[in-house]
Amino acid sequence: MRIGILTAGGDAPGLNAAVRAVGRRALADGHEVWGVRNGWSGLIGEVDAFALERPDLAGILTEGGTLLGSVRFNLDKPPGGREQVLENITRHYDAVVTMGGDGTMGVAHWLAERGAPIVGVPKTLDNDLAGTAYCIGFDTAVSIVSEALDRLHTTAASHHRVMVLETMGRSTGWVATMGGLAGGADLIVIPEFEVTYEEIAAHVARRHSEGRTFSIVVVAEGVSLQGLGGHDVLGGPDDGTGRVQVASHNVGQHVARQIHHLTGFETRATVLGHVQRGGSPTAYDRIWATHVGSAAYDAVCEGDFGSIPVVCDGRVMRARIEQVIAERHLVPRELWELCAHFF
Ligand code: F6P
Repeated sequence: MRIGILTAGGDAPGLNAAVRAVGRRALADGHEVWGVRNGWSGLIGEVDAFALERPDLAGILTEGGTLLGSVRFNLDKPPGGREQVLENITRHYDAVVTMGGDGTMGVAHWLAERGAPIVGVPKTLDNDLAGTAYCIGFDTAVSIVSEALDRLHTTAASHHRVMVLETMGRSTGWVATMGGLAGGADLIVIPEFEVTYEEIAAHVARRHSEGRTFSIVVVAEGVSLQGLGGHDVLGGPDDGTGRVQVASHNVGQHVARQIHHLTGFETRATVLGHVQRGGSPTAYDRIWATHVGSAAYDAVCEGDFGSIPVVCDGRVMRARIEQVIAERHLVPRELWELCAHFF
């Protein structure tokens, strides 16, 4: 078989581990493996891909990023973009393993519906694909947030300040919630559960009136300023796929300014940004990226196209791609309430 692998959307630590798993198993079985460069854009016009050989797949388990490159690409921009991708896949490959989040899986589903031999792999730092307890990159991001909070705690304590940490999380608050839980945040603000500036300030003021001399507030970048009781920033720069870059709304800065304005406490904002997506994956991400990559290869061998390996109850199972994008995986109330016990 001629198998293509592509990584699309934002990169995530653990992608290389998954590429390695698919590629090494396929090569061991005598198949040809091609790395498509830069996501869907590598399948527009002339295919941009290179043959992956065994040495290319050595030493990458621990490497962050993706050796295939990734681009946020709006397939509906070039006229007939999707059709070109469909034609290139069917003409050049017997199977394509596509690693990505909701946007990528939306395209993968469209292609699968039209007969493309596609298998997905769940990758999103935001952890918002439905039906899977595991998405490549999320665990590493949570570790980075947790470590950042450890560091913010010591400087917050020294200066008796309020520290606001803005994390990634476009539409959901998974990174903020799990990172905040691990790092002992004093308040976590996420899109799933709205709080106003006044409520945030009252919470911080209450802590200080009870004798605490500093507070740590974690805010997911995707929180709506209107939801906070402010003015929504309309638009913002395009992220390349036609969606707004939510980081441009600077929600962390807005929250910090309002806390200072409403309480008078000295407040600083830190934006972790792409640090959450960089560097070496955690052991957990290496292990589970290997699992889902290997399971994607099994699906290819069985010709189970339109499927995606997911993790449920600690086991890798298979779902249909449309299931993981049918709804958004939101932070459940009970998890948020667990965090709230310690605010
Ligand atoms: O999709 C994952 C994500 O990391 C989001 O949390 C974030 O909003 C976005 O990507 C940032 O993407 P970019 O690298 O295009 O700025």
